Amino acid sequence: MIRSVDLRSDTVTQPTAAMRRAMAEAVVGDDGYGEDPTVNELEARYADLVAKEAAVFVPSGVMANQLAVRVLTQPGDVIVAGRSQHLVSFEMGASARNSSVQFATVDDARGEIDIEEVLAVIDAEIDHQPHVGLVAVENTHMPSGGTPWALENLAALAAAVAPVPVHLDGARLFNAVVATGISAADYAAPVTTVMSCLSKGLAAPVGSVLAGPAPLMARARVERKRLGGSLRQAGILAAAGLVALDSMVDRLAQDHQRARRLADAVAATLAPSDYDPASCVTNIVAFDHPRARDVVAQLAQLGVHGGTVSPRRVRFVTHLGVSDDDVDYVIEVLKGLTVAPR
Ligand SMILES: Cc1ncc(COP(=O)(O)O)c(C=O)c1O
Repeated sequence: MIRSVDLRSDTVTQPTAAMRRAMAEAVVGDDGYGEDPTVNELEARYADLVAKEAAVFVPSGVMANQLAVRVLTQPGDVIVAGRSQHLVSFEMGASARNSSVQFATVDDARGEIDIEEVLAVIDAEIDHQPHVGLVAVENTHMPSGGTPWALENLAALAAAVAPVPVHLDGARLFNAVVATGISAADYAAPVTTVMSCLSKGLAAPVGSVLAGPAPLMARARVERKRLGGSLRQAGILAAAGLVALDSMVDRLAQDHQRARRLADAVAATLAPSDYDPASCVTNIVAFDHPRARDVVAQLAQLGVHGGTVSPRRVRFVTHLGVSDDDVDYVIEVLKGLTVAPR
């Protein structure tokens, strides 16, 4: 039987035995009334980790981002963000649909966005261009290859754009924390709102958390209800989220090591000559290839399942379900691949 290694996304992770136990035993209540003790504990725990006043548990990362947009912008506002960020490119136009805002996108090929580029958009308001209500960043930044932000650059950006608020899409914030040694609280300090997904590398089955100032989070709860994301005995899900935050963060280092081995193999086979495997410091290997979809299709036939994030960009993601043996196998497959040229 052909081996199957699923490198499509860290969203494919299965909940651990400890999560399943915690879910079965969770003490629950009606979260619509704020009465689910396990949800309340998860929200408090995340708020504490990112040193914000309050947090809101939501079903998905998209909803966490969308709530941030709803509470931080007015219809007609512009959000400045990197053009390949999830909020811009992977949420099916949700910000336009839900909040009647538009994007001014800036270069984010290397993950971070440039302060001067952002300030130029904000400055254009003087020339009768729309008001910038929000700046959004992504850490780690997925399409560039899971790149963590440098804390000083994030802090400088937030200081430069103030009083315009900054939202941090930290779907993989804990990957950044593990890779850099910078705490989640330090990363969150310069921004107004921050969200993290529990259901990616941390392996919980469902859920994300959005944190920020208490009055904003109170409004986020109203918006969550409006979007249909207010749940009832959600402690069953939050229980897995607590296990994720308590016991799944440190092991992300293993995913990072495995991704780096894949990055080295990719550099030697498929990636363009300027691809630097040392740039892979978390769990995502992303590289340009003129025939990205052919590469992915050929690999799939050999049991190696990757993906594309744009027509000419391949992505492999390591996670709890990918072992060292799996990586050995993928490396062998890459060596034998016949898709050429790079
Ligand atoms: C950077 C980033 N933000 C947000 C999300 C959305 O998370 P979800 O799929 O849980 O809605 C994702 C999902 O892949 C992501 O990669």
